[in-house]
Amino acid sequence: MIQEAGETSLTSDIRFEHVSKSFGRRRILDDINLLLPAGTTTCLIGPSGSGKTTLLRCVNRLETPDSGRIFVGAIEVTDPHIPLSQVRSEIGIVFQNFNLFPHLSAADNVSLGPRVVRKLPQSEATEEALRQLERVGLGQFAASRPLQLSGGQQQRVAIARALAMKPRALLFDEPTSALDPELVHEVLEVMEDLSREEITLIVATHEMRFAQRVADNVVFLDGGQIVEQGPPQQVLTSPTSTRLKSFLSRVNL
Ligand SMILES: Nc1ncnc2c1ncn2[C@@H]1O[C@H](COP(=O)(O)OP(=O)(O)OP(=O)(O)O)[C@@H](O)[C@H]1O
Ligand SMILES: [Mg+2]
Repeated sequence: MIQEAGETSLTSDIRFEHVSKSFGRRRILDDINLLLPAGTTTCLIGPSGSGKTTLLRCVNRLETPDSGRIFVGAIEVTDPHIPLSQVRSEIGIVFQNFNLFPHLSAADNVSLGPRVVRKLPQSEATEEALRQLERVGLGQFAASRPLQLSGGQQQRVAIARALAMKPRALLFDEPTSALDPELVHEVLEVMEDLSREEITLIVATHEMRFAQRVADNVVFLDGGQIVEQGPPQQVLTSPTSTRLKSFLSRVNL
């Protein structure tokens, strides 16, 4: 479905060094150490409350870790001296609930970031938006408002919006879990296409078959700790820990 290969030229590895985060007295992330090579796709799995969303939010500074450091390439995103706008433009995030502006067309939703943050002139930002909408198979819906689109189409607009910022890394927080089952496939297909491109992806997901097929690396989080990680055929089919075995027995593989 993605028509322009090599669209994303910059890509970076992502490194977590001793990252911990508590809310009140509860430790939500507990000494996370992780290296995700540039251009790879990592699926983050784990039970509800295990810290997946919190971990993603720390990467683009929607949350600040209490200790530890996170690097995206040479940029230390946890360094308070790095402007938030830089962090947010280098690292895209796609949420469960799309978060599109309802009063703006698909094209305007996508061109807003390039115009406001990347300071592109209106005409170039619109061109960029149309290119990214084509890329997710929605070229003909550029003038549609979010409510005129299906949930799957809205989520693809949200992906186009993130791509239009030319991020070094893209984070997905359960991007299909708010969708009707018949709309899940079209979003996963776009993500699978992206996984073949030179962009670093982290996907928090309950879609185990997607993880099995698409991930280079699967990370199992439980109680804020990385319990197992490795290629999907190892982590998903030959789990070693009791916690992962128990988790996998409860989800559909
Ligand atoms: N801003 C916050 N203030 C207080 N507690 C929070 C906050 N954000 C998250 N938590 C708590 O941190 C824990 C981990 O939450 P998180 O959303 O990271 O888990 P998750 O793995 O993404 O779960 P799910 O699969 O349900 O999305 C949960 O117990 C949650 O209630
Ligand atoms: Mg979550």
